[in-house]
Amino acid sequence: MSEKSTLSIWLLDKTGSTNRYLIEKAREGLLKNGQAVLAREQTRGRGRLGRDFFSPGGTGMYLSVYYRTIDAEEALLYTPLCACAVCAVLEKEGLKPGIKWVNDIYLEGRKVCGILCEKAEGGVVCGIGLNLSTPPGGFPEAVKQLAGALDNGMEALPTAERVLAFLPYFFERPQEALAYYRERMLLTGHSVTLPDGKPARVLGISDRYGLNVLLPGGEEKEIICGEITLHGQMPPSCPAAQPG
Ligand code: BTN
Repeated sequence: MSEKSTLSIWLLDKTGSTNRYLIEKAREGLLKNGQAVLAREQTRGRGRLGRDFFSPGGTGMYLSVYYRTIDAEEALLYTPLCACAVCAVLEKEGLKPGIKWVNDIYLEGRKVCGILCEKAEGGVVCGIGLNLSTPPGGFPEAVKQLAGALDNGMEALPTAERVLAFLPYFFERPQEALAYYRERMLLTGHSVTLPDGKPARVLGISDRYGLNVLLPGGEEKEIICGEITLHGQMPPSCPAAQPG
């Protein structure tokens, strides 16, 4: 994010996916650096690994923002930096969020936020879905065991504005961001299953936001992408993370 970005949020009542919306606008060459879009509802919210992101009207912050970048290494930073920005906003509200590598935010053992950064023309679109309140009919069966909501009265637009303000803050302070991310990582010290199905113990986060793990044979390895499954319950919060 070398270019200066100004805060501009387009508000939509309903769209398929805010990520898709900005990816299309980028293709048409219509986006300035930092342009964001916030939807009240998404009908085809997108999650990682081709999954859907449940996005019912009026209960979540469905936010996407476009940043110009041509640097592939830099593009990889957007997901963890979005996670830092969301955590910072939640901590200002007195909450104690934790991060499940690489892109999920948990609160008291439940996933309250997912992040999906996607390549777009000339840059990247960062999509953040934060469950502000429990949907009236509850979460769908498929995510019922996992999903949670803040349910603390936070509203979508001011929350989006705060998240967007924290993003450049963390971009300008890479070392602070890395330390901040590491302190909130819920998986450190825990046993997990790796994307290839092998068991491992998490050692921590590498300097480029990879996941350092210890294999049963004693070999250390850095995982760069993929889904990690935790053995047992997600820890309620990180002892190191301080609200405020
Ligand atoms: C995940 O948990 O796998 C990522 C979910 C990302 C959801 C957000 S909501 C705003 C933006 N638009 C989308 O279609 N997806 C992201």
